Order: sequence, then C-alpha cells, then structure tokens
Amino acid sequence: MSQPKSKILVTGGAGYIGSHAVLALQQAGYDPVVLDDLSYGHRELVEQGLKAELIVGNICDRTLLDNIFSSYTIDAVMHFAAFIAVGESVSEPAKYYRNNVAGTLTLLEAMVAASIKRFVFSSTCALYGTPEFVPITEDHPQAPISPYATSKQMVEKMLADFDPAYGLKSVRFRYFNAAGADPEGRLGEDHSPETHLIPLVLMAALGKRPDITIFGTDYPTEDGTCIRDYIHVSDLAQAHVLGLKYLQQGGESEVFNLGNGSGFSVRQVIQAAQQVTGRDIPIVESDRRPGDPPTLVGSSEKARTVLGWQPQYDDLTQIIRDAWQWHQQRHG
Ligand code: UFG
Repeated sequence: MSQPKSKILVTGGAGYIGSHAVLALQQAGYDPVVLDDLSYGHRELVEQGLKAELIVGNICDRTLLDNIFSSYTIDAVMHFAAFIAVGESVSEPAKYYRNNVAGTLTLLEAMVAASIKRFVFSSTCALYGTPEFVPITEDHPQAPISPYATSKQMVEKMLADFDPAYGLKSVRFRYFNAAGADPEGRLGEDHSPETHLIPLVLMAALGKRPDITIFGTDYPTEDGTCIRDYIHVSDLAQAHVLGLKYLQQGGESEVFNLGNGSGFSVRQVIQAAQQVTGRDIPIVESDRRPGDPPTLVGSSEKARTVLGWQPQYDDLTQIIRDAWQWHQQRHG
C-alpha cells in the first residue's frame, strides 16, 4: 500500500506566492489544502488552476481553525495569508497588525492546541530597513520602516519564542522581490490594486496603462533608479518545499533570505521588458516613493548551503518572459 500523502495547510494559497507554493507542493507529492478568505486571492486559481481543496475563511477565526485541525490530519502549515501593501500599512496600520500579527497569533495558538509543530512562514527583507551593507545576510541589523515590515518582524519574534515554549519549529523565509509566473502559464501575479514594478510595466506594454512611472531618478545608483533583487516566484515556491522537508527531517527553527544575489535598476527592468515584449513602454519620471531604500540585494548562501536550494530561473529576462506570458493570457 502506498503511503497517504502528507497534508499541508496553505493559508493565502489563492494568492500570488501561495498559489505557486501549492503547485510546488503538489508536484513534490504533498496534498495541500488552501485556507483563504478571498479578500485578495482568486478562487479559480485554486479550484480550476490547481484543483486543490479550498476552505474559504479567515485566519482570525479560531473556531474555523480548530475545526480544520480536528477534521484533517495536518502535518505542517505554510502561512502566506497577509496584507502586503507597504504604503497602505502606513495609513492603515491597524489593518496590518490585526491580520498579519493578531491573525498569525490566532493561527499559531490553534496549531499549538492541535499539536501541529511545523510552520513555514512568509517573511520579508523589508524588515532589514535601509541596508547598512549589501548583499544583505540574515544577521544584518533589523530596522523596519513600515508597519507592514514591523508586522512581519513581530511574527518572527513570536516564532522565536514559540519554539522553546511549545516545541513549534519554524522556517522563516525573508523574500526579496518576488516576480515572474509559473513557466507553464498556469498561475501568475494578479494583485488589485497592483503596485509592483514588473506587472505595472507589462500592463503598460499591453496598453492597459498609458505609461510606467519611475519613482525617483536621483538615487545614488549608476542610473539614478532603485536597485532590487528579483526572484522568480517558482524558485521561491521550491524553497518552501525544501523548508518543509527540512522541518520534517527534524531540522531546527531557522531563518533564510531568498533572493538571487544580483540587483537590477528600475530602468534595467523596463529595458528588459521592452526587449521581451518587443513593445515600446512610455516612461514618466517622477519623485521618489516614500520608504524605498536605494538598493536591496540579498545573500541567499544560507538557503543554498543548508537547504540545498538552487534557483532555476535566476535570469531577469526569463522572469519577465514568464510574467509576460501570464499577463498576455490574463489581460491581453
Ligand atoms: N517602482 C517604480 N514605479 C512603479 C512601481 C515601482 O519606479 O510604478 C519602483 C519602486 O520605487 C522600487 C522598485 O520599483 O524601487 C520595486 O518596487 P515594487 O513595488 O515592485 O517592490 P518593492 O521593492 O517596493 O516591495 C516588494 C514587496 C514588499 C516587500 C519588498 C521587499 O511589495 O512586500 O518587496 O523588498 F516588502
């Protein structure tokens, strides 16, 4: 008889990164179950794209969580359900602390009550704040400059305390700039409203937006625009599977950066998108966006060494090509 598949609860599995993680879990032989309140996620991605089970509900709902944990034998939780708009977190911090912090605490308490001991957490490089050095390593000082980043840092601190107290083991992944889409076109990025550079550039290429605005051309970088470390979402998803296996094999709680280690400026991204799409992308130069550090580039040596993580799509052109394929399908 074959072993039953290990069931993993994926919160936020109807969202951008969560849905790619669900696909990676399925491909690795796991049985992911999605919990998503669909406030930003997409039902059809889970039900049609992934053919995974979807439970519609919120992580703040303790009764629902208790029901899930008593009805299913869940081996681990991957937690993506969070609000992510940095600017909005400054004007509406309560929304971020309620969902990202209090909601995660509710989830963790329900896990402890149900004796579920493995947790993979979606954190962010934004908690380093303005970098003191690049590439940023995991021990870089933390100085979050937005409630969004603080909310992720607070969860990381809770996780550090939950391990010795309750034996809850966690892997915390600090992402750099997630981008791209499933290379086979099954999934992609569809935020509403969209604030991220690559999808906005591609919407301009499609003529769905008149132009792309560059936020700041006077940064201390070679071409004056911000530099970011873009990482393919399928590589991120693969890292989550490796993080899960690491915990299942008895690994201790750990934190890992996930980036490519090379930086591209806003102008370089636009140029690459012009090449990939073969379209002219009108540019408007504008003031800096508050809270944007000039350069964010990460070192992911630790994830490579400890988890054996090996990004497959570490080329900006490929990242943009896969995102373009998705955008043409979805919005073309
Ligand atoms: N940018 C523009 N024009 C736009 C949009 C973005 O010039 O219309 C610039 C930004 O100023 C920034 C770069 O493009 O310099 C990348 O911006 P994104 O909004 O795509 O990504 P961020 O780096 O601001 O933020 C992302 C995630 C956060 C996460 C952060 C960590 O959205 O959740 O990465 O670096 F915290």
